[in-house]
Amino acid sequence: MPSLKTRIASLALETPLLTASGTFGFGDEYASLMRLEGLGGLVVKTLTLKPRSGNPPPRLVETPAGMLNAIGLQNPGLKHFLKAELPHLQNRNIPLIISIAGDTEEEYVALAEALDRQTGIAALELNLSCPNVKKGGILFGTDVVILESLVSKVRSVWNKPLIAKLTPNVTAVADLARAAATGGADILSAINTLRGMVIDVATGRPLLGNRFGGLSGPAVRPVAVKMIYEIFEATKLPLIGMGGIMNTDDALQFIMAGATAVAVGTANFVEPQTIPQIAAGLNDYLEKAGLESLHELVGVAHD
Ligand SMILES: Cc1cc2nc3c(=O)[nH]c(=O)nc-3n(C[C@H](O)[C@H](O)[C@H](O)COP(=O)(O)O)c2cc1C
Repeated sequence: MPSLKTRIASLALETPLLTASGTFGFGDEYASLMRLEGLGGLVVKTLTLKPRSGNPPPRLVETPAGMLNAIGLQNPGLKHFLKAELPHLQNRNIPLIISIAGDTEEEYVALAEALDRQTGIAALELNLSCPNVKKGGILFGTDVVILESLVSKVRSVWNKPLIAKLTPNVTAVADLARAAATGGADILSAINTLRGMVIDVATGRPLLGNRFGGLSGPAVRPVAVKMIYEIFEATKLPLIGMGGIMNTDDALQFIMAGATAVAVGTANFVEPQTIPQIAAGLNDYLEKAGLESLHELVGVAHD
């Protein structure tokens, strides 16, 4: 019998299927579906130290084969999260991965320190698509020096698996992957959204309140698969692949490019049963191919 059980760094998952941060809230919106057959881990929406109300509306617009969002990291902040969200998440009996972000290194470190004192958190994911206000607003994830420094500072206060989530908005993603590895990340995830914009021709103005947004969904998949392929060749770290995964074949592409696990984001809005459907599909694939485990397929697309 094939098995979807997956080990990624020291994380043991029942399946390689995770939720992508920001597309599953803190799990409560999907509470009635939370016994999702096949969900290997829950990555919650990015948490910041202080509450954030996010960007002005409109925040979402559909695009060809995708969507553009500019939510702006709306979240209730650490204090509320610890009191009102973490207790129900700890009881779900599913590996919990907390995504964090900040305006400064100190904010990321403060979050990691506070979360390290809690029980029931399996891993931290660093959302690196945020401006570093002390460095003139350069995104943490776009500069090798800034990225390595941040990862190593968080590493020094966080004792469990550390995931660095890379942004695709760079020239050479392999360089950033190596910087995160040198800083001490255990796992890399990619991709976050691609920057884009839509103009409303009726008004002649940007359609999103924030002008720019992040593109996700099937439109970004070929870019994401290529980046996973490149990162796999650049580092020895295990990878979580995401970007436009809608079905089993899409998930397999990421695994064959080098991902050990995958995350599903935009597809959850289209069909909340996407993850169970992919889990069933992966099982079928293994059975038909006569394979015991998906680990046998990781990176097979490489020479
Ligand atoms: C509405 C929305 C909100 C998102 N919020 C976050 C977030 O809070 N933190 C984060 O790291 N990524 C966030 N993302 C990016 C996703 O986690 C994922 O990296 C990206 O959408 C690509 O995967 P997909 O095409 O399957 O959605 C968000 C994406 C969407 C569509």
